[in-house]
Amino acid sequence: MNSPIRWAGSKRQMLGALLPMGKNLSGRYVEPFAGSASLFFALEPQEAILGDLNGELTGALRQLRDNSAAVLREMAKLGTDSDSYYALRDQDPSQLTGAHAAARFFVLNKLCFNGLYRTNRAGKFNVPYGRHKTITVDTNLLKSAATLLRRAKIVHGDFEETLESTCPGDFVFLDPPYVTRSKPSFSEYLPDSFATKDLDRLEKSLIRLSKRGIGFAITYIDCEESRQLLERWKPKKWTIRRNIAGFSAHRRTCTELLATNLVKA
Ligand SMILES: C[S@@+](CC[C@H](N)C(=O)[O-])C[C@H]1O[C@@H](n2cnc3c(N)ncnc32)[C@H](O)[C@@H]1O
Repeated sequence: MNSPIRWAGSKRQMLGALLPMGKNLSGRYVEPFAGSASLFFALEPQEAILGDLNGELTGALRQLRDNSAAVLREMAKLGTDSDSYYALRDQDPSQLTGAHAAARFFVLNKLCFNGLYRTNRAGKFNVPYGRHKTITVDTNLLKSAATLLRRAKIVHGDFEETLESTCPGDFVFLDPPYVTRSKPSFSEYLPDSFATKDLDRLEKSLIRLSKRGIGFAITYIDCEESRQLLERWKPKKWTIRRNIAGFSAHRRTCTELLATNLVKA
């Protein structure tokens, strides 16, 4: 199935390459930088761990999993025009009930410009209203997503925290935000969520997974840092089309690296 979330950097375009790696899992599917978790929804694994540093995202996924009827009821009350969008965006999710905050998240995600999640320095979501010809909230997709999410433990935290609970037999898919020395911190998701200093931690985590006999696949933009980081796993190159700064008019092809420690990839 498709993810019910729109997310910058979603792995939809690479599913053809990624799906075979996650098939025939004997353990759990683990995604420590989940975002819209497009591979999780496409794979439909029996058991999973999804983690992300973005608490509004993980909170909304938990509410959808545990409280979907209330989330859908709250969503039905919300308008989809630009004035309703900005009024909803102004609400402080920490002051709302869990179901209302999740409804707010899914509706803003549906209506915002290009499915971006961007915040100001204070951590407040600040993406403008998108230009939509039609807006339909796919309640059937949300209900199916809620059912599938019952198979997942959802972690709000740093990727290392999610990786702590992995064990041999699990398959880990890592899709971190792309940072390079010329773009040393990634502000598209949350302020300072991932920076070049975190590449060291990421490399140590990959080595540790391999030593513990845990299979992983990782994608990263093709750059000097990632070639160095992934060298020992002989990454393959994939050409994909990306929106630059979220603008579909500024699409350009870029090359991503896909590395895995699985023997038959
Ligand atoms: C490229 S996106 C993942 C996209 C996902 N594969 C998909 O298909 O939608 C990267 C995600 O990493 C999250 N993130 C950033 N820093 C993180 C960290 N230190 N630990 C865990 N998640 C983090 C962001 O919030 C974002 O959702």
